[in-house]
Amino acid sequence: MKPINVGLLGIGTVGGGTFTVLKRNAEEISRRAGRPITITVVADKNLELARSVTGGSVRLTDDAFSVVADPEVDIVVELIGGYGVAKELVLKAIENGKHVVTANKALLAVHGNEIFGAAQKKGVMVAFEAAVAGGIPIIKALREGLTANRIEWLAGIINGTTNFILSEMRDRGLSFAEVLKEAQALGYAEADPTFDIEGIDAAHKATIMSAIAFGIPMQFDKAYIEGITKLDAIDIVYAEQLGYRIKLLGIARRREQGVELRVHPTLIPAKRLIANVEGAMNAVLVQGDAVGATLYYGKGAGAEPTASAVIADLVDVTRLHTSDPEHRVPHLAFQPDQVRDVPVLPIEEVITSYYLRMRVDDKPGVLADITRILAESGISIEALSQKEAAEGESQTDIIMLTHQTMERSANAAIGRIEALPVVSGKVTKLRMESL
Ligand code: HSE
Repeated sequence: MKPINVGLLGIGTVGGGTFTVLKRNAEEISRRAGRPITITVVADKNLELARSVTGGSVRLTDDAFSVVADPEVDIVVELIGGYGVAKELVLKAIENGKHVVTANKALLAVHGNEIFGAAQKKGVMVAFEAAVAGGIPIIKALREGLTANRIEWLAGIINGTTNFILSEMRDRGLSFAEVLKEAQALGYAEADPTFDIEGIDAAHKATIMSAIAFGIPMQFDKAYIEGITKLDAIDIVYAEQLGYRIKLLGIARRREQGVELRVHPTLIPAKRLIANVEGAMNAVLVQGDAVGATLYYGKGAGAEPTASAVIADLVDVTRLHTSDPEHRVPHLAFQPDQVRDVPVLPIEEVITSYYLRMRVDDKPGVLADITRILAESGISIEALSQKEAAEGESQTDIIMLTHQTMERSANAAIGRIEALPVVSGKVTKLRMESL
């Protein structure tokens, strides 16, 4: 059967992996897709790199715009990243009636509504399995496998760099800065790791998952984002002593008043499977009303794991290439006219439990003052631990775990606790989820 023709934009790590896996598993893939999937043209600014990866077997160009306009190309695979030229290229490809496969989470989280709107009008597919959690088929699971469910919440370790850093901090008792430096030297973390360590990458992915889980538009600008840069190693130790691990979670939860969409370091019970996801691995936990909890685990980055997701999309698009657009799986899982503008709740309205650490004078009545403030704020304490004051010191750490409360109440109580003369400095507040 006539092959389907793919134009590949960007032959870096993921592009190279896609080229290699498509070639290595060509026969198996075409047996699944029903026809061969052939990369006919590769666009990259670095033609020398493109030549070395492709071995000269494919047409090369440094003009990506010529690929999205090429009448021979059926599917454009966008692996350039970012929201600059990638956005222009994707919109141009759609305008020219081409299907798009992309791994670009930033582009979809920020401009997805525009891109999916344009694709809908044109009757083309925009597939994005590789945009969230690399090789884990979480988009397929959310969009299709769990389609019977009212999805209640999802929580994921969806950034490998930060999970690697947190694992090393815990295992080796090192500070964030020490581990980051080491990870950069070893090439595990980007030279500019801002998107990873500040939680932005995870928020892009959480935004995409929230849209297809709840049938809402992409609302990245409303997501609450807190990375791991301010996380103190002592809190990892104290959390461990209380039976918890700290993970950077992307959380999306449906509530009556709206949707919670947040990324932040989170205490989770150490006995949960997801708490034991270590190093650069990713995992997503999804709670559906019918199925209960389901957990998806695997490599969230890397050449071939991400290529696995890109090629899965290529096979899907190939199978559905000639189908009536109305009978395809909708881009955001819900029919476009059924996407609801449910608001993302501000962080002050999020309901969760808290870990609070405070430095206090070690003398009678201090604990009573603090617990009184919490009681007056309607905050119930789940666990409390007071560290023994070090020899010759008159101050000590108190750790409290609270039951669920609204963030606004927690903040107000913390403000009052910090104002007590027996409390030094700021109270450290970390959110906690039982999952
Ligand atoms: N930088 C991401 C991570 C991988 O560290 O998980 C690509 O999404």
